[in-house]
Amino acid sequence: MSILVTGGVGFIGSHTVVELQNAGYDVVVLDNLCNANPKVLDRIEAITGKKVPFYQADIRDREALNEIFDKESIDSVIHFAGLKAVGESVQKPLEYYDNNISGTLVLVDVMRQHGCKNIIFSSSATVYGDPAFVPITEECPKGVCTNPYGWTKSMLEQILSDIQKADNEWNVVLLRYFNPIGAHKSGTIGENPNGIPNNLMPYITQVAVGKREELGVFGDDYDTPDGTGVRDYIHVVDLALGHVKALKKIEEKAGLKIYNLGTGCGYSVLDVVHNFEKASKVKIPYSIKPRRAGDIATCYADASKAKEELGWEAQYGILEMCEDSWRWQKNNPNGYDD
Ligand code: NAD
Ligand code: UFG
Repeated sequence: MSILVTGGVGFIGSHTVVELQNAGYDVVVLDNLCNANPKVLDRIEAITGKKVPFYQADIRDREALNEIFDKESIDSVIHFAGLKAVGESVQKPLEYYDNNISGTLVLVDVMRQHGCKNIIFSSSATVYGDPAFVPITEECPKGVCTNPYGWTKSMLEQILSDIQKADNEWNVVLLRYFNPIGAHKSGTIGENPNGIPNNLMPYITQVAVGKREELGVFGDDYDTPDGTGVRDYIHVVDLALGHVKALKKIEEKAGLKIYNLGTGCGYSVLDVVHNFEKASKVKIPYSIKPRRAGDIATCYADASKAKEELGWEAQYGILEMCEDSWRWQKNNPNGYDD
């Protein structure tokens, strides 16, 4: 039996494939490569010593999915495939709803037709909107999302929950990620954004490697200790290991489960800059810019449910996250391009 990883060539997916293979699972990867480079597959193989069976296909392509499910014996799906750029989603809502929602509907329908009713879904802390309280537990009410990307996550959580409710043969684990950064220790796989990075860590690493002049810090007048936004950064390898634990939960026929995957610690933008400077020994010039639309002041997890029920806890601290992000960027200044 194999685990199908959709979006398995991307940032979080590739790290998860490594940890699944290390844990002894047979993995099949599906990705349309709209935001990923196939070189990742060779790099995963170099890390784990195992081939990665790969299908270049779109989750909206029912015929392609049917072929994969006919050919492979898929037990569970870990579903990362999706578009994820917050700003772009505001400009292109139709593309985001089509890719993320229509794509997932096709995927789960094909799964059902093949009797595969186990899915782990990549959700996000963004579903909490401006959270009613911090640290955020899974009991915190879902909030108003500020962009179509966030709504796709919130709506897909509802859709998958309804599917499980209607048919309790389904096992659905919704994982709400906080802010994944870092990279595999080998420095051979990592986050590789197209164009100007939207997210903090890839922007910092590109400044450090000389590709960008300075970091813009979006607002220093939030109600936080130093005025800059506070987030719960989590090492991508910890996040990947969370999926291996979630798979164990699926194997217990868990029904519907929801977990936050975060460290429980909040760091401000300037905390991250200072930790990165310490890890890399490179100075990061920055200037204060206006607040970014849609940003909230503070977001960090209470991750105790994942600890109690999955036996999972983040191991890496912020300094190691910075070291590993830096190793990846330094060794691969142009990402996967030569
Ligand atoms: P990523 O863009 O690196 O990976 C997503 C992968 O999905 C890419 O390889 C892309 O080519 C593929 N893909 C997109 N649409 C597809 C389609 N229609 N058919 C097949 N493949 C498709 O992003 P990531 O950071 O690895 O994120 C993985 C998942 O986790 C996404 O669903 C994302 O929304 C979610 N998530 C990410 C973050 C984050 O900060 N990185 C936070 C919370 C949730
Ligand atoms: N920031 C800057 N300058 C930058 C980029 C970011 O100051 O160039 C600040 C932001 O204002 C924020 C913090 O750094 O305070 C983190 O910003 P990111 O863009 O890295 O992350 P977000 O918390 O805004 O969003 C991320 C993902 C979303 C996801 C959300 C919650 O990008 O997909 O976490 O999980 F929905």
